Amino acid sequence: MQKLIINGKRPLRGGVTVSGSKNAALPILAATLLTDESCEIHNVPQLRDTRTMFDLLRSLGKDVEVSHNGTVLVRAGGPLKSVAHYDMVSTMRGSFCVLGPLLAKLRQAKVSLPGGCVIGVRPVDLHLKGLSALGADFEVENGYVHGRTSGLVGKQIYLGGVFGSSVLATANVLMASVLAEGTTVIQSAACEPEIGDLGECLNAMGAKIDGHGTPIIRVTGVKEMDGVSYTVGPDRIEAGSFVLLAAATKSDIVVHNVNYGHLLVLIDKLEEYGMKFRHENGSLYVECPHQGKPVSVTTYPYPGFPTDLQAQFMALMAVTPGVSLVVDKVFPDRFIHIAELNRMGANIRREGNAAVIEGVKEIYGAPVMASDLRASAALVIAALAANGTTEINRVYHLDRGYEDLDQKLLGLGARISRMDE
Ligand code: EPZ
Repeated sequence: MQKLIINGKRPLRGGVTVSGSKNAALPILAATLLTDESCEIHNVPQLRDTRTMFDLLRSLGKDVEVSHNGTVLVRAGGPLKSVAHYDMVSTMRGSFCVLGPLLAKLRQAKVSLPGGCVIGVRPVDLHLKGLSALGADFEVENGYVHGRTSGLVGKQIYLGGVFGSSVLATANVLMASVLAEGTTVIQSAACEPEIGDLGECLNAMGAKIDGHGTPIIRVTGVKEMDGVSYTVGPDRIEAGSFVLLAAATKSDIVVHNVNYGHLLVLIDKLEEYGMKFRHENGSLYVECPHQGKPVSVTTYPYPGFPTDLQAQFMALMAVTPGVSLVVDKVFPDRFIHIAELNRMGANIRREGNAAVIEGVKEIYGAPVMASDLRASAALVIAALAANGTTEINRVYHLDRGYEDLDQKLLGLGARISRMDE
């Protein structure tokens, strides 16, 4: 295992370019299971999670070739297989979204249940509800979901759950519905840009989808899906993480390859904090105040404040004097980062699905432990803002979702190195 060593309190400068979106690339790669033809997917970030998806596709019978420029070529490598094994699905929940495409293409699938993780219980009831409505039958046995169908048929489906819409359940049902007979309507669909991106890619493969990226998606089933050449959009969570990192280190930087519209809620909150933004040709120019104001946020499904930026926002509030509140309504248990931020001198207490943050003037370097992807990003932000040296252990969590992070931070003038634990 490796750790990151960061010397903080150094203003950053210059520009950084955002990679392709991890959470769009994962279902888009799963969508290649819907066709026997070749698919060329561009701008795929090279990460632990995308590598897991390449291996999963290979285990299902695809031939996957990855080039250094982020282009991935997926071709039929033999007959498609229907079993997604525990070792791949357990390391990455995104793997569960092969269920919809496999059912649509093979009329059967056996996919390991992903299980819980440090951000919460994370059930799959909505995935199964939506796919059952299309005509699949499921049995859960020995940790695997076995799905079978004599042919999927379009239906009107309400897909909302107690915590709102579900991103991957929407992706699973959407991918299954493109090959279902007749018309499918998904209500309370997730509106996240990653679903918009998936819908665009599916349409480029020959699907007939309207309303992707809105709460009501309408799909007219087609008989077959074609090959495609498709480019994944930029990662809004990576972009937001860099903007928050600039704020915490009081640095004026430029973030390139940004979809401004996808970041509006963050920009709105950070304007309240005191930041100024200029947006030009896909680049976001960020100007930070000497002293920002505390700002409270509550996470919601898109276009609300993203749960995937909650931890990083909390790191900024930890070093912003005054009191703020961070509430997570998407994953009410996603607060494991509080203890680690407090080890660095932050003053944060959890109250149910909320964190009360009493921002302090200074935090200090300390050895800390990364627990999940976004919590790790929060620790990087805190480390860059802290006095002294921070050691972030179990850095493999970061490698799941941030492409070339060390190099990008070095490019901004950060003092960061990596070594074996
Ligand atoms: C996606 O996970 C993302 N993962 C997550 O990003 C992100 O945090 C999450 O959406 C919310 O935006 C990928 O895209 C690979 P959900 P997903 O189903 O789809 C409940 C990251 O750091 N729920 O939208 O699995 C669930 O418990 C990762 O990049 C059910 O109740 O999340 C949660 O409270 C972490 N039943 C809420 O819905 C279900 O069947 C939203 O979860 C499914 C979900």
